[in-house]
Amino acid sequence: MTTSQVTPKRVDVDDLMRRVGELPPLPQVAQRALQLIRDPSSNMADLADVLSLDQALAGLVLRWANSAYYGLVHPVATVRQAVVYLGQQTIENLIMAGSLAAFMARPVPGYGLDPGELWKHSVAVAGGARLAASRFGMQVSEEAYHAGLLCDIGKLAFEVLLRDVDLDDPQWCNRPLPDLEAAHFGIDHASLGAEMARRWNLPTPLLEAIAFHHRPAQAGEGAIHAAAVHVADYAATMLGIGMGREGMQYSLDPIALERLGWTEASFYEMLDRLEPLVAEAEGFLDITAF
Ligand SMILES: [Fe+2]
Repeated sequence: MTTSQVTPKRVDVDDLMRRVGELPPLPQVAQRALQLIRDPSSNMADLADVLSLDQALAGLVLRWANSAYYGLVHPVATVRQAVVYLGQQTIENLIMAGSLAAFMARPVPGYGLDPGELWKHSVAVAGGARLAASRFGMQVSEEAYHAGLLCDIGKLAFEVLLRDVDLDDPQWCNRPLPDLEAAHFGIDHASLGAEMARRWNLPTPLLEAIAFHHRPAQAGEGAIHAAAVHVADYAATMLGIGMGREGMQYSLDPIALERLGWTEASFYEMLDRLEPLVAEAEGFLDITAF
């Protein structure tokens, strides 16, 4: 059977979510902390009190504040001090990365990803996307970071569908993976990931960046976010960080560079920084602790 003859199996997203029951929602403490960060009437003490309810998150915040990166003379001893010291943006990044680490570290065999590889890939894409969007201001670059972290989250759910597919069939090797996912199931891992993120009430530019990280030309409100995630995803794949099966058929859409106002040299500058970023994150996020 050729690919063009494939009739997509209609996937009911709700049904799929139920089948992937083991995917946890964003933990309650993390959700509450993110709400507080976005609420202008809340203060740092409220945020610290909520974080203190979660041992792993509290530990992460303290480890980060006391890291060599900040070189504090007097170590920070309480979550309240750490929160004041690090600031809301850093705390938000830590919450997202920390909350996702546990389940993104799982193996994803359908995509040829060993344990920890999807998580490493996500951290690289997040860091690269933040660099790529940095000239568009703090809010856009931080949202691009989160979108990068989440862009392949749909693979965790999609993997359930791929278990029934013969991945050695030549038609699975010769086309970009998202095209094949769509041809077989009527949805690709990017759209599925965006649907998962929508259930976490994440803002539209983030949802678009996830949905269009392989097709940045189609993004609207999240055009910069999607372009940033796309170039970082491509760069991480080029470096072989969590490449898996997707790597061989991945091409860079030049519209992404254009939207970012980037040259080829800017791209390679970002690429050179990805491996150190992953090594740094691995040092701080002990993923077995989540
Ligand atoms: Fe992807």
